[in-house]
Amino acid sequence: MNAVDLINKTKKSVPLTDGEIKWLIDSYTAGELPDYQMSAWLMAVCFNGLTDDETLALTYAMRDSGDIMCLDIPMTADKHSTGGVGDKTSLIIGPAAAACGVCMAKMSGRGLGHTGGTIDKLESIKGFRTDLCVQEFEDILHKTGFSVISQSDSLCPADKKIYALRNATGTVNSIPLICASIMSKKLATNADILLLDVKYGSGAFMKSRSDAERLADIMERIGRTAGKKCKAVVTDMDEPLGKNIGNALEVEEAINILRGNERGRLYEICIGLTADILELAGKGSRIECVAMAENAISSGAALEIFRRTIELQGGDPAVCGDTSLLPHSRFTYRVRAARDMKILGFDTEELGMVSLLLGAGRIGMDDRIDMSAGIVMSAQPGDYIVAGDTIMTLYSTICSDFSEAAVRAVNAVRSEKINCHIPLT
Ligand code: URA
Repeated sequence: MNAVDLINKTKKSVPLTDGEIKWLIDSYTAGELPDYQMSAWLMAVCFNGLTDDETLALTYAMRDSGDIMCLDIPMTADKHSTGGVGDKTSLIIGPAAAACGVCMAKMSGRGLGHTGGTIDKLESIKGFRTDLCVQEFEDILHKTGFSVISQSDSLCPADKKIYALRNATGTVNSIPLICASIMSKKLATNADILLLDVKYGSGAFMKSRSDAERLADIMERIGRTAGKKCKAVVTDMDEPLGKNIGNALEVEEAINILRGNERGRLYEICIGLTADILELAGKGSRIECVAMAENAISSGAALEIFRRTIELQGGDPAVCGDTSLLPHSRFTYRVRAARDMKILGFDTEELGMVSLLLGAGRIGMDDRIDMSAGIVMSAQPGDYIVAGDTIMTLYSTICSDFSEAAVRAVNAVRSEKINCHIPLT
């Protein structure tokens, strides 16, 4: 086969055969196809897209570039989010679904750029290990029904190489490429049930709801074709998920939800997503699954599973009773309202960038993270606040000069000036 012929076919929107796609992926992974030819093909895909059959063939070729996990557990579930700001839902949904009898075997990556990663969040708990071998992962799943493992290098090596190239060549934003990248990893993890949370809006890969729906639709169809019980949901990322952004701060918020101390949008989203998993697992009707998810939290069963999993993965389980044991920042800065205003919304991506600036995330894969850093939101869209009120608080240990972060945080607030008295509630 000849790479130039295949690039030309995609350039002219002539579909490639399964064999041609496999050849491209295998040759590139083996180092036989140079970066410049793979980049040219990726760019052709960005402009012309791929058919559903090509997207499926690409997903399978990338999945088959490495190991496929095989757990000795009859039925496992995994949940994937396409990346958000303040998205700590996995820390709540995992234990909640496990408490309802669904084994949550979660393989996760680290955060990059303005979005956080579940692995980093959990590693803010002192001692918590995610570099488990498959046997340890399986043992913990047998004991608690919930475990999180970091993605091994032997899983989907093709995606690792292609994703780095896409980052460097402006070819990340393509629905078939995003779909194949995510689904190849999910199929290699090999859970029986897959819940895919596709985000849209500021702070998400997909800026519009219609693009997110297209991505959700193709990912769901690929999951089902591959024999998985699969559902993709589309959720709005036009505001952070919950109040806290940043690793230890997000673990604290997740524990507060699991303790039953907090309700609101994050709680409702987690109940809905847990019920989705329970429904896919055949645990009952929608109403029954929602009730089971709520009970898992109100009874304390989900918190107990989280506590035991933390212990078995080497972390300090006492954080579940006392979140002051999580890392705390040395420096804080309150962002206050300059005038009376109604909060209309936030530029979520910019809040993610502020949190990155404070040390909560990484730009390069080898950057170190300040686990204590991040943002706590005090105001939500729809709130009326008066001049001097705190809109959000910035936290950091590595950064004591908040000047740039504060200006960017203020600019991330969309508000409306109000001259009348604030409505009394
Ligand atoms: N997440 C992935 O794993 N791959 C993409 O292409 C985009 C988001």
